[in-house]
Formats: sequence, C-alpha cells, structure tokens
Amino acid sequence: MRGGWVGMEFLPINLPNIGEAEKRAVERVVESGRLTDSSYGGGPMVREFESKAGKLLKAKHVIAVNSGTAALHSVLLALGIKEGDEVVLPSFTFVATANVVLACGARPVFVDIKEDYNIDPGKFKRAVTSRTRAVIPVHIYGFPADMDEVRETAAPRSIHVIEDAAESLGAEYKGRQTGTLSDAGCFSLYGTKVATSGEGGAISTQSDELADRLRLVRNHGMLHGYDSRHLGFNYRLPELGAAVASVQMDRLSGFLKSRRRNAAALNGSLGRVDGARFTQVSDDRTHVFYLYTLYLRKGRDRIMKRLNAAGIGAAVYFKTPVHKTPLYQRLGYSKKSLGRTEASSSHVLSLPVHPRLTSEDMGRISDEFIKAAKGIL
Ligand SMILES: Cc1ncc(COP(=O)(O)O)c(C=O)c1O
Repeated sequence: MRGGWVGMEFLPINLPNIGEAEKRAVERVVESGRLTDSSYGGGPMVREFESKAGKLLKAKHVIAVNSGTAALHSVLLALGIKEGDEVVLPSFTFVATANVVLACGARPVFVDIKEDYNIDPGKFKRAVTSRTRAVIPVHIYGFPADMDEVRETAAPRSIHVIEDAAESLGAEYKGRQTGTLSDAGCFSLYGTKVATSGEGGAISTQSDELADRLRLVRNHGMLHGYDSRHLGFNYRLPELGAAVASVQMDRLSGFLKSRRRNAAALNGSLGRVDGARFTQVSDDRTHVFYLYTLYLRKGRDRIMKRLNAAGIGAAVYFKTPVHKTPLYQRLGYSKKSLGRTEASSSHVLSLPVHPRLTSEDMGRISDEFIKAAKGIL
C-alpha cells in the first residue's frame, strides 16, 4: 500500500524503499543495545556504511553524518570558511546549501543557472572576487553540474570546490561519481532521497587531512573525548540509521535502474508534448532521477493542480529560489535578479519516477499529464 484512498491511489513524488533486509538490520542493532558510538571512528554500523559507500563512490574516505546539512556545514568548517569570506553557489537549490554558509559567518554569493538547472560556470567566473574562498555546485535533481568548467575557474585561484551531491548519489560525470570530483562531496540520506537512513548524510573526500578534520568536526572536535581540538558539533549518524543506510547501499543500483526506466517511460510518452521540455541531458554524464522535471511553457500551477486532483503527486522544486525567500530578502538580496533561476522556479514541474512505481503507474502518470495539459500548454 503506497498511500491514497479507495478508488484512486495517490502516487507521491517520492517514497522511501525500506524492506525486510533493512528491518533485520535495525533489529540487529536494537538487540546489540549499541545505538550510538561517540568515538572518533564511529560505531560498527557507521563504519560498515562508510566502507560500502566508499567502494560505491570509489572515494578514499567517506564520513557519515546525521544530515546533508551537517555534511555541508562540516566541510565548510573543516576548510576554515569564516566571516569575510564569500562562497559562490546557485540560488536554485534547497536553502540548506546557503544556510551553512551563513552559519560560518561567510557571505553566500548567488549566481544564475543554465538550462539544465545547474550552476552556470561563466556566471561563477564573473562572480569571483578577492574574497571568494569556495564554490558549491549543486547536482540538482540528480543531474551532474559542469564540473570541469567550475574547476577550471576555481583551481588557479585556490578556490575550494565543494559538491552539493545531496540529490545525486550514484550519478556519474565523465565516468566518475558525483561527490568525488572536488575537495569534498556532500550527500543527503533524507527520507525521500535515492537512498535513505530517515535522516542522515555523508561526505566523500580523497584528502586524508580533510577526512581527519571532518571526523573531528562531527564529534565536537574530540579525538579521545573531552579534548576538543577543532570547532565541531554532534553530527554523528545513529547506528540505527547507519544500519538502514548500509543495506540501502547494497540496493542502490537496483533503485537507480528503476528510476531510469521510469524516467525513460516518461521521456518516451511525453517527449513530443508541445510546450513541455526535459532539459537535463548530456552524453558525458548520467542522471539518477531523484526528480524528473519538465519545463512547462505556461500554466504550470494549473497543470499541477489538475494532476494532484487526479492522484498524481506532481510537485515543484523549487518554487522560491533561495535569494527570494523572506530570510534572504531581509539579508539584503532583495534587488538581486537571476533571470533563468526565477523563470525556472515559475515553470518547472516534477513528476514521480521513484522505484516503487509500476509500469501501469507510469502509464497513468503520462496519460494524466497529457489530459491535464490539454487546453493549457
Ligand atoms: C540540494 C540539497 N542540498 C542540501 C540538502 C540538505 O540535506 P538534508 O535535508 O539531509 O539536511 C538537500 C536535501 O534536503 C538538498 O536537496
């Protein structure tokens, strides 16, 4: 049962995929009585998850934390981002990407996106000043950003590159996993993500030194207990969550196969709908379809309403770009104008493609979309 009501099952935009293996893993942790471990290296389930994620990503180090937000904040702290520094990022993202910059006392500098909704590397280059210390490309909806172009600007200027890979676990850019194309990659294991631990996150890095500092940051800067040597917080992933995440690593490739099959079904049936465009395509990268998102020429909100009434959980990510939220307006971003970002916020619509949908469900989603768009697009 996936939710809904008699006669018309509601198909949500995303659903966690938790099965018997996860249940057994949770039971084992409960029976062990070891729910957490505040040592530098973490408990057995945390270490098991980190090892599996490291293999999957081909990353030297993976550090588990308790959210994607904690992952991003930890990396900024470990890199020493502070007051007076500027961090460049897209505004077309979840607010966490920007909030962690504020939390370090630094200034977020928002730049516009390309047609694929990812950071425009040319706009990043133009936003660089003598205070720029880092850039955060976000692989939005699970589609990799233009990493080579971002690094081309960042490397000669010693600007740190931090990937917000919260939505892109498993996506590849030129044959390499997102999250491993920079100083550090930050993943989210939130309940609706492509793999989950309920709440949770992870950081990947190739640097021994950064990995060491990140392990300190997630544990109040302590190495042996009560010996804080770096600013940190309690960003530890509980053992119960780590046990779930560990099983999800085994299942990830199956999840992604289903997402890709479902997305291909929508591309096949909606590809020729006039006024609806799928724009995240490139030969040199793969999409994990955390979200399958169309750009609708007009009438987005009316089409979404019709779809929701027909039991299809179509949804908008992100209706308000970060620089237009009340908090950032108050912080002085009220005059900032980012053309493509703002247009995308008014025109994008995501349709369900998660692995628990059947081929009949996918047929129903395309039929309802075509019906909903009639007379509007
Ligand atoms: C692009 C992006 N960045 C950061 C986050 C923050 O992750 P979390 O919710 O696990 O803190 C999310 C997910 O919510 C996200 O989608």
